[in-house]
Amino acid sequence: MSGIKITIAIDGYSSCGKSTIAKQLAARLGYSYIDSGAMYRAITLYFLRNGVNYNSPDEVAAALNDIHLSFAFNNTAKSSDIYLNDEDVSQPIRDMLVSEKVSPVAAIKQVRSFAVAQQKRMGRKKGIVMDGRDIGTVVFPDAELKIFMVADPAVRVMRRFKEMYATNPHITIDEVRHNLELRDYIDSTREESPLHRAADALLLDNSSMTRDEQLEKVTVWVKDRAISNMVR
Ligand code: CDP
Repeated sequence: MSGIKITIAIDGYSSCGKSTIAKQLAARLGYSYIDSGAMYRAITLYFLRNGVNYNSPDEVAAALNDIHLSFAFNNTAKSSDIYLNDEDVSQPIRDMLVSEKVSPVAAIKQVRSFAVAQQKRMGRKKGIVMDGRDIGTVVFPDAELKIFMVADPAVRVMRRFKEMYATNPHITIDEVRHNLELRDYIDSTREESPLHRAADALLLDNSSMTRDEQLEKVTVWVKDRAISNMVR
């Protein structure tokens, strides 16, 4: 499999563990990993900090004009940090305030065009794992491997609660549940590239799988796709 560069698109609902499997795969394959959700979160952070009225197309256009997003690999964390105009915003984008506003912001057509154009550019050379909501349907419709992840809602809530509790001990399970439910609803019912499973995406339900089990399962899929791509 070494040397073969394919494109891997991972989509699914909030807190299904997309970034965990994406990071595992990128590390195992020597691919780059792009968390497309971090881009929408960074844009949302900028909008919040600058009081951008996201119902005004002019204000949104002016704000996007001032936003520069980039990723830099962090060797200690073994994952990429996201920079918003040269500031590392990897932590602040995880705040509940951002989580509450990100889905409405990500539903704006101008915001999506801005982010998708960059995502397509990042994937030009293949050898990339990207996760999000529209990666297999819009960003990389020709990806050799598409995965659609699902997990039991109760499992997802507890996973996200534990993650957020580590930095915010005031967070409640109800707050987390409400946020996930609302984002899933907005993300899958919006007009612009709503979240849905691409017809050719493989379904991965990791509700009761360990990290190692899911990595082994998906690695088989990668090998299969890499080989069939080689002989095509
Ligand atoms: O919290 P979680 O890690 O599940 O979400 P995320 O990947 O950080 O994405 C945050 C939000 O960005 C989602 O709820 C979507 O509203 C939006 N998003 C999107 O619209 N399209 C993507 N490709 C990725 C994220």
